[in-house]
Amino acid sequence: MTTLNVLLVGGTGSIGRHVARAAENAGHSIRILSRRGGGDDTIRGDLTDASTLAEAVDGVDAVVFTHGTHGSAAGFRDVDYGGVRNVLEAIGDRPVRIALMTAIGVTYRDGEYNRSSGAHDWKRRGERLVRASGKPYTIVRPSWFDYNEDDEHELHFLQGDTRTAGSPADGVIARAQLAEVLVASLTSEAAVGKTFELVAEKGPAQADLDPLFAALDADTGLDGARDVDNLPVSQEPADVIADLDRIRRA
Ligand SMILES: NC(=O)c1ccc[n+]([C@@H]2O[C@H](COP(=O)([O-])OP(=O)(O)OC[C@H]3O[C@@H](n4cnc5c(N)ncnc54)[C@H](OP(=O)(O)O)[C@@H]3O)[C@@H](O)[C@H]2O)c1
Repeated sequence: MTTLNVLLVGGTGSIGRHVARAAENAGHSIRILSRRGGGDDTIRGDLTDASTLAEAVDGVDAVVFTHGTHGSAAGFRDVDYGGVRNVLEAIGDRPVRIALMTAIGVTYRDGEYNRSSGAHDWKRRGERLVRASGKPYTIVRPSWFDYNEDDEHELHFLQGDTRTAGSPADGVIARAQLAEVLVASLTSEAAVGKTFELVAEKGPAQADLDPLFAALDADTGLDGARDVDNLPVSQEPADVIADLDRIRRA
């Protein structure tokens, strides 16, 4: 069994708490980043303040990102996106394994939710930073949390991000099962360099996720393998392009 020192960014949140449990069940040592500090396994840090993150990433083998804000455009920019950038910069050139949670529909720009908050654009920019970093990564785009029925646990990994209703019609996933997928990706060679949408359908959970990871196309550039083209990097704001250049050089 591979045991890792894993930093949980968002580890106090509604998903992160499940990730902490799943990581410990898998035999990993966990360190939880929180603005509030806390128990022995918690380290204080603020994703919007890069200077607070050096200690958090010291000695880690892997990072699972499940952080997030709710609502404000500045929050999506500074926390959802800026947090990924600041942690990657704090890691520098160390070969740390990354699991990033974003959201199903993240490449869809025309819905009211993205128009009003930029939420999808910022999360997608975070995905691009991870792909640009050159680190071994897996990006999981979960569907709607805990809308699944009791018999809906069979996992399906989708690519192309074509479900854009912006409602549970796009798919459902239990938080606990999402956490298990994120943790399993950390030790799966077949999961490296893959981006997928995660839904559960009627049926039992699969015991071994490797065949599901292996069936996915690997990403080849800054976007998910089968994503429909949308905002080209050249049309991104100048500071986003500068972030990508910096992360690539790190
Ligand atoms: N609802 C859905 O069906 C659905 C589906 C797909 C994706 N999502 C996404 O899931 C994300 C996470 O949701 P959640 O419900 O798990 O959130 P949550 O329970 O509010 O947790 C947010 C986490 O982010 C951390 N965080 C926020 N700002 C931070 C900062 N400045 N520095 C350090 N840590 C910070 C919090 O840590 P502390 O407070 O301890 O500092 C906490 O651990 C959201 O962005 C949402 O877009 C939701």
